[in-house]
Amino acid sequence: MQVIKNIAELCKLNFSPEQRPLGFVPTMGCLHEGHLSLVRQSREQCQTTVVSIYVNPTQFGAHEDFDNYPRTFARDCELLRQEGVDLVFAPTTQQIYPDGFSTYVIEEKLSTSLCGGFRPAHFRGVTTIVAKLFNLVKPDIAFFGEKDLQQFKVLEKMVLDLNMDITMRACPTVREKDGLAMSSRNNYLTPEQREVAPKLFYTLKQMQQRYHQGEHDAVALVQWGKSQLEETGDLRVQYLEVCSLRDLQPVTQLSNTAGKTFIAAAVYLGETRLIDNLKL
Ligand code: PAF
Repeated sequence: MQVIKNIAELCKLNFSPEQRPLGFVPTMGCLHEGHLSLVRQSREQCQTTVVSIYVNPTQFGAHEDFDNYPRTFARDCELLRQEGVDLVFAPTTQQIYPDGFSTYVIEEKLSTSLCGGFRPAHFRGVTTIVAKLFNLVKPDIAFFGEKDLQQFKVLEKMVLDLNMDITMRACPTVREKDGLAMSSRNNYLTPEQREVAPKLFYTLKQMQQRYHQGEHDAVALVQWGKSQLEETGDLRVQYLEVCSLRDLQPVTQLSNTAGKTFIAAAVYLGETRLIDNLKL
């Protein structure tokens, strides 16, 4: 497995037609089974698999966890080597955002709701770094986790709007045995918080069940979900919404909407922010 930290070195690599399709898994490192499932899907569908590891400063807000974000580069490389990844691209910030950098990619619709409403510059950072990585790696297929469904939708729109010739694949969320969606940020949880954390997915599942039992009033469903999440006082709800998969805007009623909406939530457990979603 080759590890490249330098843009010039990456650009020298010219993948031959026999080495394509080229699969790409962008990550911020601190890899878990969720990332590895993306790598495995790329390995199944592509001739060559490239993984990037880069903690992208522009997608973190001023008071967010950029400095504390877990960095486990040696362990990540070992896991990727075991998975048979061909190349790891791990650029420095000086390479990605050199002095004087002033061009950003902004998606203006899908990025404004849900997480975008609470993390104003987040998706601008995500679209900018992923556009840059796409330009550098030149993948045929890119793999992302559905845990970050809004991120996937925003990036899919960027690819469409900017005529990028890349197939976008959304892969199912990988969960711990108790339902908690895998996330690098789960590492921040204390043992006590870790016990409470699965309540997020459990509540989304219960909401899904109530929907299947005939609750088609989305406002009532959300109200019920919030009361469940906040019942014991451990979880603070940042948002809980039922949204259209098409435009990521909240919906109020769920008659004849099967397969067209999803529940999305962001909660705080202490200082740790967890997100999850479930399709209806
Ligand atoms: O999902 C992530 O880990 C990041 O947002 C991504 C796509 C690697 C961009 O930094």
